[in-house]
Amino acid sequence: MPEYKLVIEGGRALKGETQVSGGKNTSLAVIPATILAEDPCLLDNLPDISDVRVLEKIFSHLGAKVSWNPEGKQMGIDPSNLTTNTVPFHLSQRMRASYYLMGALLGRYGYARVGYPGGCDLGSRPIDQHLKGFRALGASIKEEQGMIVLEGKLRGANINFDMVTVGGTINVMLAACRAEGDTTLTNCAKEPHIVDTANFLNRIGAHIRGAGTDTIRIRGVNKLRGASYTVIPDQIETGTLMIAAAATRGDVVIRGCIPTHMEALTAKLLEMGILVTSQDDVISVQLRQGHRAIRLSTQEYPGFPTDLQQPMSALLTRAVGTSEVIENIFDSRFKHLDEMRKMGAKSTINGRVAYIEGVPELQGAPVYAPDLRGGAALVIAGLMANGITEIYNPENIARGYEHLESKLNALGGSIRREPLELDNNNAISI
Ligand code: EPU
Repeated sequence: MPEYKLVIEGGRALKGETQVSGGKNTSLAVIPATILAEDPCLLDNLPDISDVRVLEKIFSHLGAKVSWNPEGKQMGIDPSNLTTNTVPFHLSQRMRASYYLMGALLGRYGYARVGYPGGCDLGSRPIDQHLKGFRALGASIKEEQGMIVLEGKLRGANINFDMVTVGGTINVMLAACRAEGDTTLTNCAKEPHIVDTANFLNRIGAHIRGAGTDTIRIRGVNKLRGASYTVIPDQIETGTLMIAAAATRGDVVIRGCIPTHMEALTAKLLEMGILVTSQDDVISVQLRQGHRAIRLSTQEYPGFPTDLQQPMSALLTRAVGTSEVIENIFDSRFKHLDEMRKMGAKSTINGRVAYIEGVPELQGAPVYAPDLRGGAALVIAGLMANGITEIYNPENIARGYEHLESKLNALGGSIRREPLELDNNNAISI
């Protein structure tokens, strides 16, 4: 579709049942991990999001045989005959997770040439911990015309991360799988997608223990085979749907999720007076009346996820009282609050702390999706608001949510795509 905007008619309570898609951040790690295998892999339950399509393009560029079936959620990857170890900048900068090509190519071939990663602008996002890990495993690293070139025969090592990093933990784990000898990673991140990536790697023959704790031990093996693997459901999509249900004072049943991954969010919703129940792979969220302000502080898993801070702050714009939101993971993850102010939300930002004063109502307005989760937060604000909200730059949302509009519409929301009008110079007129 050419450039479009989302048009939301707000004020409708979401009601009914919905199904969670496969995890974005787990898929974006497991797909690159297939490079470590010598035989074809079949991945199942992948979400149909634009970041997955970018990875498909990167794999085709590398010479892998890829067949992506978005309806069936399956991707077959034959990585056995790559024709290049270079991921050019025009592809790498289209997503954050392109950094996993460094660990995977280096681990498999002892050589990788990868452009800098892109992704949401959340302030400074260095990858020094990834590079520190690769170096400790024996890689030499240099920069050539803006490309990162990694080379060397890898040997197991003990690596302590200076800070807890999701991408760094997974990337160094990828590189260490086929290194000679044993690797111990300490101060690791524990997110569910780290466990899922380790489970996939073990399925193809790796020897990884401790994923999901802060110490991961890897015994290097010299060959990894192919396998079929189904990725876990998306933790952040589950949370976004839970928050949207509460924000519209709705009554929604979310199926196909993992409730234990949602404990930090569930605890906060309960504290606000929202009814949340769960059983097996189902979570129900219900809100009839108003909800209370809270204090929220983002943390690494199992703490409150930074990726849900933005959707959650949409819900807080209408809470009774003033909420305090502390963003501990990223420098700059409050741009969506500037946009919500156009809708009548009240907030002040002081560095990494935002104060959100609840108001009785939001009014629809034209707003700009600053990044993926900020875009989702604006969709929730639009669903809550009176009147029409237009969201510009919604491509940011499609990077990470599978069919978000149709899922919300099936629950009674009213969201449509409208093409942007272009003037004679092809400039976008808003
Ligand atoms: N950091 C460093 N050096 C490093 C690595 C990280 O200083 O080498 C810092 C970062 O700047 C940040 C903190 O450590 O302040 C945590 O960063 P982390 O490495 O954990 O994040 P990431 O790998 O860049 C992934 C997800 C993000 C998610 C974060 C935190 C992917 C592709 N991205 O990013 O997802 O917010 O972990 O959970 O998995 C999203 O889905 O919207 C998204 C942004």
